[in-house]
Amino acid sequence: MAVGVFDSGIGGLTVLDAITRRLPDLPLVYLGDNAHAPYGVRTHEDIFNLTCAAVERLWDEGCDLVILACNTASAAALKRMQETWLPADKRVLGVFVPMIEALTERQWGDNSPPREVAVKHVALFATPATVASRAFQRELAFRAIGVDVEAQPCGGVVDAIEQGDEILAEALVRSHVEALKRRMPHPEAAVLGCTHYPLMEGAFQEALGPGVKVFSQANLVAESLADYLRRRPEMLGSGTGSKFLTTGDPKTVSSKATQFLRRRIVFEAA
Ligand code: DGL
Repeated sequence: MAVGVFDSGIGGLTVLDAITRRLPDLPLVYLGDNAHAPYGVRTHEDIFNLTCAAVERLWDEGCDLVILACNTASAAALKRMQETWLPADKRVLGVFVPMIEALTERQWGDNSPPREVAVKHVALFATPATVASRAFQRELAFRAIGVDVEAQPCGGVVDAIEQGDEILAEALVRSHVEALKRRMPHPEAAVLGCTHYPLMEGAFQEALGPGVKVFSQANLVAESLADYLRRRPEMLGSGTGSKFLTTGDPKTVSSKATQFLRRRIVFEAA
């Protein structure tokens, strides 16, 4: 049994870490498409094709269930994959819905009509492709009314993280938060809508100030996976071991992942 975890690069490791804490005995095969990162500046067609290729690679590892630990792929490709591409015996789950359920105080499977929720002003930080897709607002509108969302496309942050440049990433985070605050001076909550951004969570929280609740996806996704596997244990797949695969250069990717996650991670070529 093994579950696949996919991201365009190293950001999905934040989700993998949370899954490992929640389900320590579950083997996980991680695939970072570092050769093609960042996805956030690509067309939806491109993101769809790259994501399908990556998911197929994870099927080869015996992972019938793949978590798209990438908001950009979840926003730009997941719906089309589920509607037009996915065989009946495979599953692909995204990272958006667990986050929106938390924000709107809903349990999984609660399909009741949208209602008023506690937060009214939400800042969304995501890649340009995720912001352009408006998938966050679409999913939110199914569940909540009266929530004002201001979205900030955070150009350059994923690139800086993928290049291992923490200082540049922090500076970009500060400038994106300032840009957002000019349009929404007092957000109550901020959503880090890219799995790379938890690596910069401190910088986001500092720039936003202590009064803003920062929602980061990793633990929410891990909890929702645990719940899913309780309901669908047959989706555990035939894979047996954990490993880290990359389409990029394994040595470079291993050293960046080790730097950001502050534990040793060794990637092999996909
Ligand atoms: N970490 C990804 C996300 O959650 C992808 C970012 C990118 O490749 O641009 O959106």
